[in-house]
Amino acid sequence: MYRISELAEKVGLSRSTLLYYEKLGLLHGARQANGYRLYSDKEVQRLHLLQQLQAGGLTLKECKSFLDSKVERAVLEKRLQQLDEDIAQKQQARDLLAALLGEGSLRFWHQQTDKLAPDAHLDWLKQQGFNEQQVLHLKWLSKDMNEHDQYMADFMTVFQTLERWGPGCDADSLKALSRLPTTPAKIIDIGCGKGFSTRLLASHTQANIVAVDNEQSTLDELRERLAEMGLDAHVTLSCASMTELPFAPESFDCIWSEAAAYIMGVEPALKKWRALLKDNGYMVLSDLVWLSDNPSAETIEFWKNEYPDMQTIETRLTQMCQAGFEVIQHFTLSDQAWHDYYQPLKARVAEAKTSMPSSKAIADLEQEIAIYERYLGEFGYQLFVLRKGS
Ligand SMILES: C[S@@+](CC[C@H](N)C(=O)[O-])C[C@H]1O[C@@H](n2cnc3c(N)ncnc32)[C@H](O)[C@@H]1O
Repeated sequence: MYRISELAEKVGLSRSTLLYYEKLGLLHGARQANGYRLYSDKEVQRLHLLQQLQAGGLTLKECKSFLDSKVERAVLEKRLQQLDEDIAQKQQARDLLAALLGEGSLRFWHQQTDKLAPDAHLDWLKQQGFNEQQVLHLKWLSKDMNEHDQYMADFMTVFQTLERWGPGCDADSLKALSRLPTTPAKIIDIGCGKGFSTRLLASHTQANIVAVDNEQSTLDELRERLAEMGLDAHVTLSCASMTELPFAPESFDCIWSEAAAYIMGVEPALKKWRALLKDNGYMVLSDLVWLSDNPSAETIEFWKNEYPDMQTIETRLTQMCQAGFEVIQHFTLSDQAWHDYYQPLKARVAEAKTSMPSSKAIADLEQEIAIYERYLGEFGYQLFVLRKGS
């Protein structure tokens, strides 16, 4: 038999806790003539069982009824469910910490955080030492920051020698241009890349054009092409970010952006760029959209990772109206537009693979090409021709 202080030491609980348990009827000491209570081994075992039940998440009240009467399944089931939820939460927390240390993928976390708190996410990435261009690249390619440097280097090795950096073709761009009710005099081409659209606009309009990209190497190539074509007098090149364009409000009567608005997000782009347009100015932008109501599981999975903000045409149209635009027309880019982008890309990926066979960027591009070859039609690029509403 044990006195209360001996029992406390044996089970690793304080004296006051044991007194409290006694008061709740969880513990039963045998009162002696001298007023002291003595506890048997049975009570020690009961306390061990109680401690296990508590560790299982049961309250003291539940422990008591568990010890004194028949097990209530419903209570245990509820506690089990709660424990499973706690474990899942802890596992998530663990995954995040491991991923931040480079031991796992942060992709899903980036995607979720970008939806939930885009500005805070951006600021946080900058705090980690990424500059704005790198942060948007991360977003642009929907990639993992731990793999970023190597991934970007490989990606650029593939793209540097390519002309088009996104689906598009002259015929579709000209079609969009022909839908503008008046000919613009001042155009900004945002995310111009090597400037297919810039050159086309320069040779088919009299407009002054500002071509913007945050990749200086693409602008350098564009400068050379423009000079060769004798079009350089019409075009000013600006190395700037699409998120912070260095132009006064109402500077342009047309914004042009092919395969680029998604980098900062179509909705934010609509809202931010609108201010640059004069009243009744036009915006022409292309975006990857769902064309099928019932796309295959493989396509859904692929684009969920590569372009989580991909929408249906209807959703984009609603967003455009909500952002203060009137839709003049929209159409799906032709197969030619995809062909002009993917055929050279496919050849280039095959060539680059020989010198970097285990590159993640190469593997991702191969997968993208396979998805395009198998499932184009379930998704497509939509060209939207908009007018700024008052
Ligand atoms: C998919 S490519 C499209 C290029 C071009 N419009 C075309 O169709 O070939 C996207 C372009 O946006 C540029 N870009 C990425 N982030 C940018 C940013 N923050 N500001 C301006 N341009 C950016 C890239 O350098 C690239 O040239």
